[in-house]
Formats: sequence, C-alpha cells, structure tokens
Amino acid sequence: MSDLQAVRGMHDILPEELPRWRRLEEVFRTISARFGYEEIRTPLVEYAHLYVRSVGPDTDIVHKEMYLFTDRGGEQIALRPEFTAGVVRALLQHGLLHRRSLWRLWYYGPAFRYERPQKGRYRQFHQYGAECFGSPYPESDVEIIQLAVAILKELGITTYELQLNTLGTPVERRRYQQELVAFFREVRSQLSAESQQRLERNPLRILDSKHPADQPFIERAPQIWDSLGRESREHFQYVYTSLRAVGIPVQVNPRLVRGLDYYTHTVFEFISPQLGAQNAFGGGGRYDGLVESFGGPPVPAVGFAFGVERLLLLLPEQPGQPVAQLYVASAGAPEAAYQVAMHLRAAGYRAVCDLQRRSLKAQLREADRLGIPVAVIVGEAEWQRGNVLLRLLSNGVQWECPFQDLLPHVRQALVH
Ligand code: HAM
Repeated sequence: MSDLQAVRGMHDILPEELPRWRRLEEVFRTISARFGYEEIRTPLVEYAHLYVRSVGPDTDIVHKEMYLFTDRGGEQIALRPEFTAGVVRALLQHGLLHRRSLWRLWYYGPAFRYERPQKGRYRQFHQYGAECFGSPYPESDVEIIQLAVAILKELGITTYELQLNTLGTPVERRRYQQELVAFFREVRSQLSAESQQRLERNPLRILDSKHPADQPFIERAPQIWDSLGRESREHFQYVYTSLRAVGIPVQVNPRLVRGLDYYTHTVFEFISPQLGAQNAFGGGGRYDGLVESFGGPPVPAVGFAFGVERLLLLLPEQPGQPVAQLYVASAGAPEAAYQVAMHLRAAGYRAVCDLQRRSLKAQLREADRLGIPVAVIVGEAEWQRGNVLLRLLSNGVQWECPFQDLLPHVRQALVH
C-alpha cells in the first residue's frame, strides 16, 4: 500500500481513454431520451440501512462488499453499491409517485463494492441503468430490455447472450426456496463450503455457484417453473414471446437468480464470452414489492443496469481524435499567434499554440506528434504584411493567405 497509488480496485480514467467513455455516455443519453426516459441523479452515499432492507442483509453485496463508515454525527453511511435503492428512496422522498403514475428514469455514475479486483471487477465501477415505475404488465419488462438492446446496438456490441428467468411472486419464490433447501440438505456434506453456508443464508444463490463439486446437484435441483402459478407463467411467456417477436434472441436460464433480494417475476442478464470470469455486463429484473416495502404505495417496477467498464471491454476500437484541429505556430511573433488562435477558437475551431517558447521546427514536430492535421504559422514578416501561412502537416504543402481570409482557407485546409 502506498499513498501514491490509487486505492486498490479504483482507477484513473486518463485523457486518452476518455473519448471512449464519452462515446458511451453520449449513447446512454441519446437512446434513453429516444425511449422517453428522464435522467435522475442521487447522492453517492445513502444511509446504510437503505441497502440492508432492499438489496437484502444476506446478499454478498450487503454482507461482504459494502463500503461503510460512521459519519461525524454517528450515522451509518454506505457508498452506493447500486442505484435502484437510492432511486426508490428519492421517488418517495419527493412524492414523485403522487405526481405521475408512470416514471421512466435513467442514471449513470460510480458505484462501489469491496470485491476482489480482477479483470472487469473493480471496487469503484460505473453503472448506467434505467428503471420504469408504475406498470405491473410485461410490456414494461419488454420495453426495458429493448432499451438495453438498443444501447448495445448503437454501440456496435453484437456478441452477447441475453439470459432470462422468472422468480415468480414472493410467495412462489419462498415455496421454491423451501424445496431447494430440502433438496440440498439431503446432499449437504457433498456441497462446496460456500454452498453449505449459502444453504442457511441465501439458498437460491447455490444455483449461481461455479464450484465443480456443486454442479451435479445443481443440475438435478428442482426448477422454479414447477412452483409457479398461472399468472407468473403467463407474465414470463409474454416477455419471452414478445422479445422473440421483435427479433431479440433470448436464452431461458432456469438457474439465473441474481445477487439482489428485491426481484420478483422477470430477471435477466447480459452475458459475453469475451469477458472471462466476470461475464455478466448487465442485469436487472422486476421488483414489484420494493416501493411498498419502503413504506410507499404498491408501485410495481422493473429495471436494469449495465457495468460500464465491462461495456468498454466489449466496445469495438475506434480511431482516437487529436486534441486539436489546428496548431498555431509562432515564428518570432508569439503574441500575434495567440491572437490568431483566439480568432480561430471564436469561430469554433479547436486550436492550440506553443507555451514553451520552442523553435518553429520543434512546434511543427509537436503538432505532428499530436496528430494535428493543419498548422497556421504566424511569422513576423508575413504578419507585418497582414498574412499568415497555412501548412498541411501530412505532406508539407503550405501557402500564404491574408489573415482576414483565414477562415475559408482553414476550412479548405481541413478537408485535405
Ligand atoms: P448488478 O447485477 O448487481 O445489478 O449490477 C449490474 C452490473 O454492474 C453487472 O452486470 C456488472 O456488469 C456491473 N458490476 C457489478 N459489480 C461490479 C464490479 N465490482 N466491477 C465492475 N462492474 C460491476 C444491480 O446493480 C441492479 N441495481 C440492477 C437493477 C436495476 N435491477 C433493477 N434495476
């Protein structure tokens, strides 16, 4: 540990990486707006208890991964491990659910989980997510998945699998959980140590285990489908069939349970084989009971979140952009060069000039290194005649033009 290193699992985003981030952020904003989703921003921290009662006390997120601290007033505070709970809190606190019966919201920002860092898994990471409040109908599940898929399409991310399952109503889920516990108790001693612990705390999560010892039992374990009533089956069928009908391929995974307790009915995950062990780059589902469990009205909801770092791993390469379009070089006339640069910026061009009092040759070399295509050279003699030089850095072609005609010349130089 060194205080000159970023905190373990947390990352700087360097200037050369930012264009890719900005591209994602732009797509999140544009596609959310196309679906009528509005942005919401909530604090980075909440009272810790908010997550205990929503994500669940026995989940890994709350049990092992939350960043917790006591503030100076003695309050237990958590860095947000996810956004959904905070968004529900905000809706209730501001009475938004009384103003409209349907809310479509999206969010983007950092979240924090104290997990063991590895490729695609960090302690500070970013999520983009969307939540739709107010519809119990499967149409809203379909819409939220269509939004996610539209974002992936816009980003050019094509190789992934969308896995779908249902957890039914809380009653059905509890019934299923009891069956699972009964099944796994029979073989308890043969399960991995972690699954033995989960058997007591969070038995559904045994289905998530990747441990080889657990696999034969997981394969034989009862499936949720058999515990579902007619309405839950119909809800699931509707989602499945509609997604297929709009050309979104889905894979039913009866063992998909998700790591958060608030889900009911539909759950889904986006999986990519390109990601290695942390192969889920997005996930979500329906959470009909959460708003009410916070003391609000019985408002059903569905949503999802993407892990932004994982999306970045999947994003096709794109050529980087130079820091500027124009390098204004000075040949013995630095003040005039600044004036020319300001003129170009006022006209909307991205222009930089030398700040290190370097020779003309060194300035042009620097411009070339930065990938800037055109230099405007402000030389003492030409400036006295009211002229500047334009130079194409790709081939060294240059010509003189009057300063007052600079803009059309720049436009022409930049199309070369
Ligand atoms: P989640 O599955 O816990 O769901 O997280 C969503 C996504 O965040 C994951 O699929 C993954 O890509 C990314 N993620 C999670 N942990 C990390 C990490 N340590 N490092 C990098 N990426 C990570 C939720 O958070 C729910 N709130 C989603 C939701 C919204 N459900 C309904 N509405």
